[in-house]
Amino acid sequence: MDTKALREVAAAAIISDGRLLLAQRVGPPELAGMWELPGGKIEPGETPAQGLRRELREELGVDTVIGGRIGVDVPLPDGMVLRAYRVSLRDGTPTALEHSAVRWVAAPELAAADLVPNDRAWLADLVATLNAG
Ligand code: CDP
Repeated sequence: MDTKALREVAAAAIISDGRLLLAQRVGPPELAGMWELPGGKIEPGETPAQGLRRELREELGVDTVIGGRIGVDVPLPDGMVLRAYRVSLRDGTPTALEHSAVRWVAAPELAAADLVPNDRAWLADLVATLNAG
């Protein structure tokens, strides 16, 4: 059994004006076309906040402020764990640089969105956060 720290994948709940940003995956084939919270793997030596800010610059071309955790830890294969963070925009307009599209959703549209299975674990928390204003 591997006792090293779990490798983290951090995902961003970017909320602005009561809406959440979703990004549409280009792959792999089983996830292509589905919507996720943008993010990616934290590299060794990065804090989760540093790594998530880097991923959001790379994927969306925005500067962000990383806030607290939202929702549960989602176990991933290969000893990785997926965690979501509240994020606000500091500068820039989110642009799909590595996704096929981005869109802003309010709570009802989020509940109806075709989310990737892992991110469904956070649906109730995300809806509650949006409804709390
Ligand atoms: O960008 P990077 O290659 O570092 O990471 P990724 O390939 O986007 O994500 C790493 C793993 O986390 C993949 O298995 C993704 O499917 C998963 N993931 C997820 O389930 N939900 C997200 N919101 C982001 C990533």
